[in-house]
Amino acid sequence: MKAIVRTKYGSPDILELKEVDKPAPRDNQVLVRIRAASVNPLDWHILRGKPFLVRLMGFGFLKPKHQMLGADIAGRIEAVGRNVTQFKVGDEVFGSGMGGFAEYACFREDKLALKPAAMTFEQAAAVPVAGLTALQGLREHGRIQSGQHVLINGASGGVGTFAVQIAKALGTHVTGVCSGRNLEMVRSIGADQVIDYTKENFWRSGKEYDLILDNNAGRSLLKPLRALNSTGTYVFVGGSAFVLPMLQQLILKPFYSRKNGQRNLGMMANVNQKDLAFLKELFEAGKVMPVIDRRYTLSEVPEAIRYLEEGHARGKVVITV
Ligand SMILES: NC(=O)c1ccc[n+]([C@@H]2O[C@H](COP(=O)([O-])OP(=O)(O)OC[C@H]3O[C@@H](n4cnc5c(N)ncnc54)[C@H](OP(=O)(O)O)[C@@H]3O)[C@@H](O)[C@H]2O)c1
Repeated sequence: MKAIVRTKYGSPDILELKEVDKPAPRDNQVLVRIRAASVNPLDWHILRGKPFLVRLMGFGFLKPKHQMLGADIAGRIEAVGRNVTQFKVGDEVFGSGMGGFAEYACFREDKLALKPAAMTFEQAAAVPVAGLTALQGLREHGRIQSGQHVLINGASGGVGTFAVQIAKALGTHVTGVCSGRNLEMVRSIGADQVIDYTKENFWRSGKEYDLILDNNAGRSLLKPLRALNSTGTYVFVGGSAFVLPMLQQLILKPFYSRKNGQRNLGMMANVNQKDLAFLKELFEAGKVMPVIDRRYTLSEVPEAIRYLEEGHARGKVVITV
């Protein structure tokens, strides 16, 4: 089978499309014939081994542990491990794991869900990491409540386009922050208000929100906290300096909880079937529709990663296998 492979940490230039052995599923895994994958910032962090923290998270200290990249996939099951109980050969599934930029890959059954018939493989592959991050950031960590005022910073990217739609589906008033060229798109997916970050700083506007989901956290936690009301929650999921607010959060947490009712927390998405099923329900109810920016072929994965790395994708970047 064909797969995108690398043997060291580096830029997208080191990626090669190669002929490799088709994998065999372990007992709790299924073998998926991949029809589409999607690219996440996680892919270029693992490709480059940057920030260095990534290497300490089990991806390999000096050399990458995994030669193949690609977390999010959708496809058809071709074989099942002997302990697999939920899926059978022929089922169409979507979910997340490792090695998705390939014709075949093995995934744990508990990281997959059945693909709705009305969802294309490309749409399904766009969902897992970005959709789950948005959902868990808002619902589990943000404790979102109907009627709240919610701000999504980075509303036009992979996570942001899901977050705007999910926050709207959960009955909140949504403000989306993005650059001027994306204002209309963010409004079209449900934002009640939009802010162009090139013209206005949302934390200085004087408006206070119940919940902020920040896909582009800066170096300081203090600025966004100014835009929260006294019991508001700030959830940061990403940004170029993600490690810095994470450290500040650990140090400042006791101070904030004592000083007032505000909460601030960083989060890591967790791939699980319950939340994949919830996203599937939102899609089937017509409340969430994956926004696909660009499509690339398997051989064009390096180009797709280069594009995402620029940091201005409009929704998701998809690989059609
Ligand atoms: N913690 C987790 O588990 C987790 C999971 C998934 C992703 N993440 C992280 O979350 C972040 C977002 O992921 P993603 O998949 O949405 O990335 P993405 O698709 O690359 O989106 C990036 C978005 O950021 C926006 N942006 C760029 N500069 C901005 C600024 N100064 N202010 C506000 N928005 C700005 C861009 O909008 P414009 O083009 O309009 O500028 C673009 O739409 C990344 O840092 C990623 O690593 C974390």
